[in-house]
Amino acid sequence: MFSFSGPAVGRRAFLLGSASLACATALNVQPRVARAQTREVKLVAAPGRVSLVGPPHPDTDVWCYGGRVPGPEIRVRQGERLRVSVENRLAEETTVHWHGLRVPNAMDGVPHLTQKPIAPGETFVYDFTPPDAGTYWYHPHQRSFEQVGRGLYGPLIVEEPQSIAVDRDVTWVLDDWRLLKDASIAGGFGGMHDVSHNGRVGNTVTVNGRVTEAFPVRAGERIRLRLINAANARIFALEFEGHAPQIIALDGQPVEAHVPAGERVVLGPAMRVDLLLDLTGKPGQRFRVVDSFYRSLEYRLLDVVYADDAPLRDLAKAEPVRLPANPLIEPDLKLATRHEVTLGGGMMGGMMSAMMDGKRADMRTLMHSGLVWAINGIAAKGHVHEPLLTLERNRSYILQLINDTAWPHPMHLHGMSFRVTARNGKPTRHREWQDTVLMMARERVDIAFVADNPGDWMFHCHILEHQVGGVMGVIRVA
Ligand code: C2O
Ligand code: CU
Repeated sequence: MFSFSGPAVGRRAFLLGSASLACATALNVQPRVARAQTREVKLVAAPGRVSLVGPPHPDTDVWCYGGRVPGPEIRVRQGERLRVSVENRLAEETTVHWHGLRVPNAMDGVPHLTQKPIAPGETFVYDFTPPDAGTYWYHPHQRSFEQVGRGLYGPLIVEEPQSIAVDRDVTWVLDDWRLLKDASIAGGFGGMHDVSHNGRVGNTVTVNGRVTEAFPVRAGERIRLRLINAANARIFALEFEGHAPQIIALDGQPVEAHVPAGERVVLGPAMRVDLLLDLTGKPGQRFRVVDSFYRSLEYRLLDVVYADDAPLRDLAKAEPVRLPANPLIEPDLKLATRHEVTLGGGMMGGMMSAMMDGKRADMRTLMHSGLVWAINGIAAKGHVHEPLLTLERNRSYILQLINDTAWPHPMHLHGMSFRVTARNGKPTRHREWQDTVLMMARERVDIAFVADNPGDWMFHCHILEHQVGGVMGVIRVA
């Protein structure tokens, strides 16, 4: 086993992992109680100019929080209250949604459904206490296909009461941009081709807001790597050549540590994966991290580059890592009520018509309104509509999600996390908790949860062009 107090690692580990170490040390002295601490944060949403591609390419005009992409990392301890005042200096309305956090409905940041959008020049204060530790992120919910696409997003980390033993806690916010030759962002947000096909998949991938060449590491290091997919549409499947990182959390929620199928770490838009990355290579070595999701479009994301320093420790002797559970309520699968939720439409989907504004509309009429998708036969525009489903508070539900389209969809439920219990009728191995579940074309996925958070919650595809094109609905918990 290795520990931070051991003389062999002491100073180095302290330098590398001072944050987690400091917490661990403090905890031994004084167990954490949910002290009525409040973290105050100020976010300004405004146009900015940042270097996405790096010199010699020019900087890129973006919309962002705090003048940077990604926006400032918000970090709180579990049980700590968070107050974020958001000032809108954009030329249009905005809101902030705390993706994956189980917040009270009025703090959920959905325009018109949970709040009046924040007008230019105005400020809104979000005030809530994140119940779950883990990796989350924040982004606008107003015209998100353009606002997120232009750079409005940031990481939000809720620390466990007891930090796990790693040398470094690293976040990679992944994004995908459609850039022109001069590194400016291509227009055409929400264009019909993107809406009806794959979404706005771009041509430039950034890690923490920058096209990145190398990730420097040291042999023997153990890293908690938090991946956040902030892209509008790109799905990532990362392969860490020469390494076998284990997934320890999905969408913020702990999961039994495991190496994923095919050693590919798959993240649909909005999803998060926490990896335990053991740097088992040798000093001076270099390995590629490759994204191989889209067949024949595989590319190198970056290189993992080992310093020449001697290994920090023998990782073969490293202890397994276990994250503490979050306070989620277990659904009762025997008593659960079942509902079917079917996604239809899109190119090659064969949808002929759908209900729009309470009336049946044929495909041509739908497309005139920018809609090409439907949930349970309803194509929804805007955020406010009759609920797809009304659930009774504190009861268990199983939703059978049926992807009756030719495209993948990362389906996101606000307000509650759910267990993914089955795929195509087969029980899942890890019964993972998620807030965004990636469904492949024609796939059926069962999700189960207790409807314990009252309010009207969005349920939508997080390919943001699909969302605006109708893969969206409201689930009411009353
Ligand atoms: Cu990340 Cu409804 O959103
Ligand atoms: Cu979709």
